Amino acid sequence: MTVYAVTGASGHLGRRAVQQLLARGVRPSDIVAVVRSRATVADRVARDVEVREADYSQPDTMRAALAAVDRLLLVSSSEAGQRVVHHVNVIHAAKAVQVSRILYTSMLKTDVASNPFSADHLGQQRALRESGVAFTLLRNGLYTEGYTDHLREYFTSGEILGAAGNGRVSAATRQEYAAAAAAALLRDEGGNVTYELGGPSFDLAQLGRTISDVTNTRVTYRDLPQEQFVDVLQQGGLAEGTARFVPRLTRRSRVVSWRRTGTTWRNCSAVRRRRSSSSCALPTTP
Ligand SMILES: NC(=O)c1ccc[n+]([C@@H]2O[C@H](COP(=O)([O-])OP(=O)(O)OC[C@H]3O[C@@H](n4cnc5c(N)ncnc54)[C@H](OP(=O)(O)O)[C@@H]3O)[C@@H](O)[C@H]2O)c1
Repeated sequence: MTVYAVTGASGHLGRRAVQQLLARGVRPSDIVAVVRSRATVADRVARDVEVREADYSQPDTMRAALAAVDRLLLVSSSEAGQRVVHHVNVIHAAKAVQVSRILYTSMLKTDVASNPFSADHLGQQRALRESGVAFTLLRNGLYTEGYTDHLREYFTSGEILGAAGNGRVSAATRQEYAAAAAAALLRDEGGNVTYELGGPSFDLAQLGRTISDVTNTRVTYRDLPQEQFVDVLQQGGLAEGTARFVPRLTRRSRVVSWRRTGTTWRNCSAVRRRRSSSSCALPTTP
């Protein structure tokens, strides 16, 4: 019997990962949903599986929550500025209770990317290696929802504004990343493994054309100089720090994104497994 734990199980991705494990036939009694507060999963998750409370910033709580767990999906923390400390706490806790494998949600092409998150993710990678616990890096591309959540704004203005130039994005939905995470959790892997995960790449002009075609509402991409885009974001209510951060991320998508086109998650051709010449065979969403 293998016991699987998922942190961040109250969040969008963690919640879906738990559901994906259940959909793949894992018994509820073999799944531990780790959450900060039980109240956040009073709905579905709490009814389906064992819920344990723990906080990334409190190592003792994390050690207790991971007792008797074999494989852990560590969903990266959402608290800016605290991520490294949080993740190192979880890694140490997992090692202390002899978790056999940690799967960590990293970021696509972290080794070569120079976006604002890369240093953190590389730090996590080092911490995992130093811990001696076997690990799997799930290097997720951007969430498709990062765009679809803004459809109403696009329709209102008729425009997608950005400063990404013709940079390409390899996005996939959280549901797809959760399916990948569950599939990877269930795999009997040897050694440390890296998956680069993403969907077919597109640039923002293509995104505008696709939205226009699908919805019959004209939406075009307008590329702005970076400073002008920062102004637009601030006028939209973002604090200056965040407004300056966003274009740095999207501009870097020129470097981060996976440039192959015509690849899809569903046939797994968008997934590359490092340290192995075998092609990916992660199952699709059930
Ligand atoms: N690839 C992308 O495009 C992209 C975009 C945004 C974020 N991300 C990263 O992917 C992660 C998962 O995405 P998501 O959409 O599921 O985010 P989300 O819905 O915000 O979920 C974040 C989860 O982390 C938990 N968490 C935060 N701080 C914690 C702490 N101190 N102790 C324990 N749990 C804590 C939250 O718990 P509570 O419910 O208690 O707050 C929540 O369950 C994010 O956290 C972020 O690191 C990726």
